[in-house]
Amino acid sequence: MIQTIVELGALRTRIAEWKSGGLRIGFVPTMGNLHAGHHSLIALARQHADRIVASVFVNPTQFGPNEDFNRYPRTPDADAAGLDAAGCDVVWMPSVETMYPFGAEAAVRMRVPGITDVLDGSHRPGHFDGVVTVVSRLFNQVQPDIAVFGKKDYQQLAVIRYFVRDLAFPIELIAASTHREADGLAMSSRNQYLSAEQRPAAATIHRTLLRMRDGIVAGQSRTQVEDEAARALEAAGFVLDYAVVRTAMLVEPAAGESGALVALIAAKLGSTRLIDNLEFTL
Ligand code: PAF
Repeated sequence: MIQTIVELGALRTRIAEWKSGGLRIGFVPTMGNLHAGHHSLIALARQHADRIVASVFVNPTQFGPNEDFNRYPRTPDADAAGLDAAGCDVVWMPSVETMYPFGAEAAVRMRVPGITDVLDGSHRPGHFDGVVTVVSRLFNQVQPDIAVFGKKDYQQLAVIRYFVRDLAFPIELIAASTHREADGLAMSSRNQYLSAEQRPAAATIHRTLLRMRDGIVAGQSRTQVEDEAARALEAAGFVLDYAVVRTAMLVEPAAGESGALVALIAAKLGSTRLIDNLEFTL
């Protein structure tokens, strides 16, 4: 039976018990409103650890002033039940006061340079500062041996990899493949904002990523592929933040560059911002 913990002292006691028994601890950080994609992260964590902690915390420091912090769906009871069924041992649900004892505004902030200046970093200023600010706290609280992050948030994963290595956190990061609906739409808590009319159009993102990959593999230039992607998304009703092909480190590939590449899209359908990506090798 899953245990819901809301006090840091109780979490520390439980973690210490497990550690003294030599158990390996797996961690899945989330913002709640969990779906099958999250549950698959728990199953993946289970393959690498003896006990699993998932956190459910809607983190105020990673939302911009005009973003969806207040309306972000909060479903703690359903989250705990789903985590229980998925094989999670503890759900860590701290309050904002527990996470940020001096208040979110007065919190010690973390910042990863360089990689956070592009793509979502430039479209959502401060977003990744908020992500690493909370993830560093979560790592200190849970003290996991392994932590699982989804590849849907490709840039977030790259940022977390950088900061775990730079700060020498003794944590192994495991990247989980993106879970998709039958039409290819990446699973996301934000999908539920989509209206019945918008929902079919949302699958255009995945179709466009596949076309971007195929275009590059067939020898089209990067700019041609990106322009065509932008037109396809705009024709489907999206307002585009970006549709780009980058190296695995998220820099522009040189003309004809081969190796690991990734196509990335961020676009809004109405007020719903969706992101997705597709890795491939040239
Ligand atoms: O990917 C998310 O859900 C969040 O950014 C995370 C990692 C839980 C930090 O709040």
